[in-house]
Amino acid sequence: MKNSYKTFIRNFISLLLCILVTWQAWEVSRESRNGAVSSTSKIASDVGIDVLKKGGNAFDAIVATGFALAVTSPANGNIGGGGFLVAHTASGKSISLDFREKAPKLSYESMFLNENGEYDRTIALESHKSSGVPGTVNGLLKILKDYGSGNLSLQEILAPAIDYAENGFVLNRTTARSFNYYREQFNNDEGTKRIFVKDQEWKQGDIIIQKDLAETLKRISELGNAGFYDGETANLIVKEMNDNGGLISKQDLLDYNSVYREPVTGTYKGYKIISMGPPSSGGALIVQMLNMLENFDVESMKRNSTEFVHLLTEIQRLAYADRATHLGDPDFWDNPIAMLTSKEYAKERLDLISMEKATPSLEIAHGTWNNKESIETTHYSVMDKAGNVAGITTTINLSYGNKKVVDGAGFFLNNEMDDFSSKPGVGNAFGLIGLGIPPANAIQPFKRPLSSMSPTIVVNNNNEGILTVGAAGGSRIITAVLQTIISVLDHDLTVDKAIDTPRTHSQWLPDQIFYEEDSFNQKTIKELQELNHTLKLVEYRIARAHGIQFKNGKFITGSDKRGSLDGSQASTY
Ligand code: GLY
Repeated sequence: MKNSYKTFIRNFISLLLCILVTWQAWEVSRESRNGAVSSTSKIASDVGIDVLKKGGNAFDAIVATGFALAVTSPANGNIGGGGFLVAHTASGKSISLDFREKAPKLSYESMFLNENGEYDRTIALESHKSSGVPGTVNGLLKILKDYGSGNLSLQEILAPAIDYAENGFVLNRTTARSFNYYREQFNNDEGTKRIFVKDQEWKQGDIIIQKDLAETLKRISELGNAGFYDGETANLIVKEMNDNGGLISKQDLLDYNSVYREPVTGTYKGYKIISMGPPSSGGALIVQMLNMLENFDVESMKRNSTEFVHLLTEIQRLAYADRATHLGDPDFWDNPIAMLTSKEYAKERLDLISMEKATPSLEIAHGTWNNKESIETTHYSVMDKAGNVAGITTTINLSYGNKKVVDGAGFFLNNEMDDFSSKPGVGNAFGLIGLGIPPANAIQPFKRPLSSMSPTIVVNNNNEGILTVGAAGGSRIITAVLQTIISVLDHDLTVDKAIDTPRTHSQWLPDQIFYEEDSFNQKTIKELQELNHTLKLVEYRIARAHGIQFKNGKFITGSDKRGSLDGSQASTY
């Protein structure tokens, strides 16, 4: 008896030591002094770290990570889509690059309405007409040329991505599950089926080879922009369009150009906030909501308490109501950014809400919330030891876009055209509506659809970037980024814990608070209902965030566990 007691104690102490060592190793792996990359794929994050080790800067690394994601994260990090870069350089300059998809020349305002004038969700999301002209390749190449260190050639930056496409990469559990989940839809398109469907189900440890994609990446490596927007790749895209009723022409591809835009900026409690302006709605809404929150003692409110969630919901209601009316592509629409981001305007808007009860959102038609579809965008970011901070959010809209691979070129096409407002008051896949006739975000040739992607950087009063964060999740991106910033700046959490904290989301219409299983307890639910809020548990998740924080001389990475079976996908060194 005595001996077995001793053995028990010995085993118990060994177990404790083991937990301690593992914990410390984990803590160390999340923190580093030289640089960090956070993305949705560990392989792609490691590609970025290798670039930093070879003497590249954050911009070289983010471009290499981006091309690697095109291979290892086909659901979202795809060269068939578009995105935004928000960066703060070591010299203290803030930049943003818009490489969002553009509507083809042949697109028109009512293209997703049927003969009865109703929005046809299937055409808007699943046809070749749903694709805008992709911007990712043009954007990544511009970042490398304008901000890369010059220490690595385009060929060196693309080499790992080409290698993973040509020789394969090992599937993790999350990606294998995702391929199996979409099997039926992949089967509907011959080009997609050939690459992404095999006889048995995919499983962790399988190797997937993408030869066509490797050839496309090689053409980009050899010819730069012309390797995608001209020649063989462009011809394959145009053939795919012509064979299937799509609208993108060779001229649309040749004309595509990403654009540097003035980032949206604001301040919150002495920190500078730098985010993406139109055609993203994210930056304007985040700054607007932070301006409103600054009028309250947020620090003393517990995250996800009744008081906090009520306040958050009310300010989200105000901001998303503005989104529906005021925002669109700046090349086509005069966006009132100065008004939306002014502290006075925020105060004025606050007069409309009360801390005592929910303010009913206007009763207007809106689309249903699509909770079952995985809303696939992806955010990745890099910080280097020189002080450069770069964050990119990129998307092909829903998971695997319209689920159609460009035959012979090996990448999925986006279904970003659904981000336009097809009919005033009718919601898109995210339930987001546009108001006005025509809405600011109506379809027009060459226009960019309004986005919610919100790569955001927080800068301290020494003009150093201390936090970069962004998210996937359609309309929920904006509120996820906001809640992460509040957790870091108001509640003093590190970025990993801030991302882990359960979230809520509301967006004016539908007039509901969406919440995660562990967002709050029954008591809080009851209290919120007593304030007249309608609550809805999400079936999937509220966004998926990634970020990096610079704190006390160290980089800390945050990599969302939501939707991942494989833990953190970030890398540091
Ligand atoms: N496709 C989602 C967004 O850009 O907001």
